[in-house]
Amino acid sequence: MAVNFSESMTKENLMRAFAGESQARNRYTIAAERAEKEGMLTIAEIFRYTADQERAHAERFYDLLKDLSGETIHIDGSYPVDQQDSLTGLLRAAEHNEHEEFADVYQTFGKTAKEEGFSEAASAFFQIAEIEHIHEQRFGKIAEMLESGSWYQPQTASKWMCTNCGYIHEGNQAPPVCPVCRHDQGYFIPYQMACYKID
Ligand SMILES: [Fe+2]
Ligand SMILES: [Fe+2]
Repeated sequence: MAVNFSESMTKENLMRAFAGESQARNRYTIAAERAEKEGMLTIAEIFRYTADQERAHAERFYDLLKDLSGETIHIDGSYPVDQQDSLTGLLRAAEHNEHEEFADVYQTFGKTAKEEGFSEAASAFFQIAEIEHIHEQRFGKIAEMLESGSWYQPQTASKWMCTNCGYIHEGNQAPPVCPVCRHDQGYFIPYQMACYKID
């Protein structure tokens, strides 16, 4: 049934999504600082990369509220306090929150938008839910690799890329220091997770 936008649930859900994405962006930026302090520089970069995508999601939802510019939208909502002591704890918390968005929150918001007749908002919720699924899987994979020790030392021979200079190392473990640019191990990323690789 078509509903007036200013009286819709969808306008509130868009604001909830804007608030949620904005908070995710900040949580990941803070987690990146934490990763950096531990010398895990590529994991810091992955948190920042994801934070930028959350900003893009926030922008999309905010844009869909444009017709209500100048108004204030009151919402209630539940938002996580994720201040785990360990990096794997932060990654697991991020994985969990991404899963909630993908499997529950944005599916519900998308369904409501569709029922209220806002197809563009419905598409945004459903499309962004799929992206959150990728975020969930990536955070989960990194947590698993850190927990098992396979980020730097897998069971089989592997490849890493130094994200500072691009040097590719092949072997049983990542080198403690890059032999080319002398940057620390924290700059090495398992090759399968490196950006812009061509094989
Ligand atoms: Fe997002
Ligand atoms: Fe996300």
